[in-house]
Amino acid sequence: MVGNWKMHGRMGDNATLLTEVAAGASALQKGVRVGVCVPCPYLAQSQALLSGSVVQWGIQDVSAHAGGAFTGEVAAEMAADFGVTYAIVGHSERRAYHRESPETVASKAQRAIEAGLTPIVCVGESLEEREAGTTEQIIGTQLDAVLLVLTEEQAAGIVVAYEPVWAIGTGKTARPGQAQDVHAFLRHKLLAKGASVANVPVLYGGSVKPENAEELFGQKDIDGGLIGGASLKSKDFLAICRAAQIVMH
Ligand code: 13P
Repeated sequence: MVGNWKMHGRMGDNATLLTEVAAGASALQKGVRVGVCVPCPYLAQSQALLSGSVVQWGIQDVSAHAGGAFTGEVAAEMAADFGVTYAIVGHSERRAYHRESPETVASKAQRAIEAGLTPIVCVGESLEEREAGTTEQIIGTQLDAVLLVLTEEQAAGIVVAYEPVWAIGTGKTARPGQAQDVHAFLRHKLLAKGASVANVPVLYGGSVKPENAEELFGQKDIDGGLIGGASLKSKDFLAICRAAQIVMH
């Protein structure tokens, strides 16, 4: 269960949120893994407050380059200096607002792996793409670009997140069956890369709330969630984590 804070948070509020999440997560069964992906300036704060807890922390993006003259960018190796476990790559907000191509996202996943981080590769279709019946084509292209540049062993170590763009921050959640269909498609694609790759966790993201979490996570191929808005409130985020625990399969 991974929280994506996006561009939210301030030092004082973060301290409360991180401490509460760490305390609540310690009561969960070991099988439920919890992480929070925070804005870069708060990686050190996350490391200080979460070290020794069951909660891992992550970054929301990394550069496609290992280093060099790329003003404003953050290399995966830099994030690794702060004990980071996860690196979200290819979030739809970055694909849309920063024009990241499937190839750029693939390079980012590679840089994350080289730095010892676990990339959380996001894929998802827009409403127009869904209505045009091109969902599988779109997310297939997005995932294939990443799988193409990774070895089977590397691919077995990633996390995939299906986030339909039309469900992000809109309050519209994919129907559990609708999400399951896409997850099954993604699982099939992962299996084609190798038997070990089929075990990659496939998370669902898009308006996950305490009220709909159990039904979503109860689906066969939904292994967890990438939580935006609801991850900013410890009560909601922990309720979602507990829902995952109830239906853990
Ligand atoms: P919301 O949960 O706010 O819809 O955001 C989902 C998301 O984009 C997580 O990465």
